[in-house]
Amino acid sequence: MERRIDAFLEKQAEGGLLRCLTEVFPLGGGKMLSGGREYVNFSSNDYLGLSSHPALARAAADALSSGAGSSASRLMSGSTQSHHILEDRTARFKGKPASLVFNSGYQANVGIISALCGKGDAVFSDRLNHASIVDGIRLSGARCFRFRHNDAGHLEELLKRERNKYRGALIVTETVFSMDGDIAPLEAIVRLKRAHDCVLMVDEAHATGIFGKNGSGLAGPAGGVDIIMGTFSKALGGFGAYAATSAAVRDYLVNTCRSFIYSTSLPPSVIAADLAALDLVRREPHRREVLLANARYFRDKLKAKGFQVKGDSQIVPVIVGGNKEAVRLSEFLKGKGYWVTPVRPPTVPQGQARLRISLTFDHSKEVLERLVRDMGEAVRASWRRSA
Ligand SMILES: Cc1ncc(COP(=O)(O)O)c(C=O)c1O
Repeated sequence: MERRIDAFLEKQAEGGLLRCLTEVFPLGGGKMLSGGREYVNFSSNDYLGLSSHPALARAAADALSSGAGSSASRLMSGSTQSHHILEDRTARFKGKPASLVFNSGYQANVGIISALCGKGDAVFSDRLNHASIVDGIRLSGARCFRFRHNDAGHLEELLKRERNKYRGALIVTETVFSMDGDIAPLEAIVRLKRAHDCVLMVDEAHATGIFGKNGSGLAGPAGGVDIIMGTFSKALGGFGAYAATSAAVRDYLVNTCRSFIYSTSLPPSVIAADLAALDLVRREPHRREVLLANARYFRDKLKAKGFQVKGDSQIVPVIVGGNKEAVRLSEFLKGKGYWVTPVRPPTVPQGQARLRISLTFDHSKEVLERLVRDMGEAVRASWRRSA
């Protein structure tokens, strides 16, 4: 076993794929410290800048008086009034009759999919879906069919060929994709789900707080989505996750979903911060408006400089290709005071290593212009090196 571990680590290092943990200290305002140096942080999902908002800190601090931990799982004695209030508020926010809070997005996806599906069922899953969705499908034992990314035509082909061979069928997609920043063709997927008698689940981790009426995401207005999963940990600046759905599915999950049942519930301070974030998202729409306008501006500037840029959201992936090249570009930008971690396989497909530039409300247009200029300089420097 030890030899296998050493060999693995060596191989990862040779391929530019070794991951290391780096100690950081968040400063708020889109900045952070690492190794005694200040950086502009372009690798955080704190899209609206709410994680350091005083309203969240105040709400969390007040709730600490009732205890640091919740002391039990929901079904024992950990289902506090605040958990139920958060569930009612989330259901309303998402336009669904009910919702259930989970300890994390990872636990939600793994638990929900493996509770809903089993042997004899089929899952139709976008090829670029998050690892937590992939793991939920694996754990379920259902047969998985992966459709080409955002390709409703390919999904239809698979449904026509395979759907009738299985008892139940689930279609699952992210609405805003975490590594590509692009948006699923939800209306077409809803039509297919109806035509082929499937259940539709979407993951709104990166859409919630940013898109839709009051920042409620993309799934509510489209209708026809059976389970809307999302997180409090990204644009909402808090922690935890939820599934907004029917009362029956909620009850079913309470009775069957192992990642929900067998885990201590979120502490009151976290729930209080999540509630404060839901208020802020509704009260301060300018945060998402400024963010999306800046993202459009930044993407256009990068394209004008000849960068290969993907997406239609606050997530701006710049495709570099090779793993080592992505690491080198990230290191160059670090030298200029930007924290942009490279994303490499298996998180993204082979040959598509990238800088996933994650914009937040705290990044001013001036900072974005400076980043574009410095990225241009990085490319010119590497051209000079290879000439
Ligand atoms: C699309 C998607 N779903 C689920 C998760 C997991 O959420 P959490 O970080 O709350 O576990 C993530 C987080 O990276 C994500 O990007």
